[in-house]
Amino acid sequence: MENSLESSVRKRKAINRGIWADNETLVFPDVSFDVTVANSATHQSTPEKFVLVKSRRMIEYYQDLLSRFKIQNIFEIGIFKGGGMVFFYKLCKPNKIVAIEIERDANPALAEFITRSGLTKVLRPIYGVNQADAVPVRRVIEEEFGETQIDLIIDDGCHFLDETRKSFNTTFQYLREGGFYVIEDWGWAHWPGMWQQNGGPWKDRPATSFFIFELAMLAASRPDVIEKLEIFRELVLVRKGNIQDLGYGFDISKFYLTAGRTFLEQGFPLHGIVKVIQASLSRELICGYREIMNKICPPESIGRKIYKSILNLTKRKS
Ligand SMILES: C[S@@+](CC[C@H](N)C(=O)[O-])C[C@H]1O[C@@H](n2cnc3c(N)ncnc32)[C@H](O)[C@@H]1O
Repeated sequence: MENSLESSVRKRKAINRGIWADNETLVFPDVSFDVTVANSATHQSTPEKFVLVKSRRMIEYYQDLLSRFKIQNIFEIGIFKGGGMVFFYKLCKPNKIVAIEIERDANPALAEFITRSGLTKVLRPIYGVNQADAVPVRRVIEEEFGETQIDLIIDDGCHFLDETRKSFNTTFQYLREGGFYVIEDWGWAHWPGMWQQNGGPWKDRPATSFFIFELAMLAASRPDVIEKLEIFRELVLVRKGNIQDLGYGFDISKFYLTAGRTFLEQGFPLHGIVKVIQASLSRELICGYREIMNKICPPESIGRKIYKSILNLTKRKS
């Protein structure tokens, strides 16, 4: 795709990737990064060294991807200790990075770094904004970027299904043609280790992978909306197609084509049914899923009928 992101890259200088002092320390001349996921809760940012909650592999992915494009305007969801904002600034030297965060208190190290570096107009952290609330999110974007389209959106917020989908529906319209939308840490429901023990730490949450499946359906149906979709363990990259105006109220579920078949509804029914089938096949106790089924499948619904037939099948087996 030939567009302003790519055509301008020929004129630009190589990005500053920084230097790895060790596997967990990325160094730029005036600031370094404490690259950690495991210690991100206990380590603190300082104006000289920021906690960056990413793996080295993710950082190298961003370095390779963003070195090929001129990224001038960035919107990030999830500020935490400021590492993401400062990292994308050092890497891309953009005109502006706007980031939102649900917490109300500003990170002091980030505030100090911005003031000291004279970047108050470039780095714009906005606190007390929930990524799932379309109205304030739109207001922030429109106030901060005006008519300027965004080149890169990074969703590194709460990583839950509903919020991830809502953020995409709200913000994708502001992305330029050929721009990138990244969803980090989408695959938590499938990660090994503690994520698989006793249903994992977020066992009551529907998996965000259902939304990734919707993105795949959209990529297949509408290349003008999604030109390219890349799925990695740590992140998903969406490249926007040439659709011009998605407008307010964009809803991904209205855009993919399914020949009238129901693939999923909000993640829950498929999730519940798959779980019930898995449970029945492995002859586990399926009563635990009754609560979910009661919630998602009202009496006389097709979902309830499927549930009952699986229940009967399981009773016959045992
Ligand atoms: C993984 S951290 C972000 C890390 C940061 N981007 C980095 O690269 O170092 C996730 C952040 O998202 C914030 N968050 C959680 N739920 C949110 C929501 N609904 N809306 C906005 N921010 C949210 C959390 O408070 C937390 O600070």
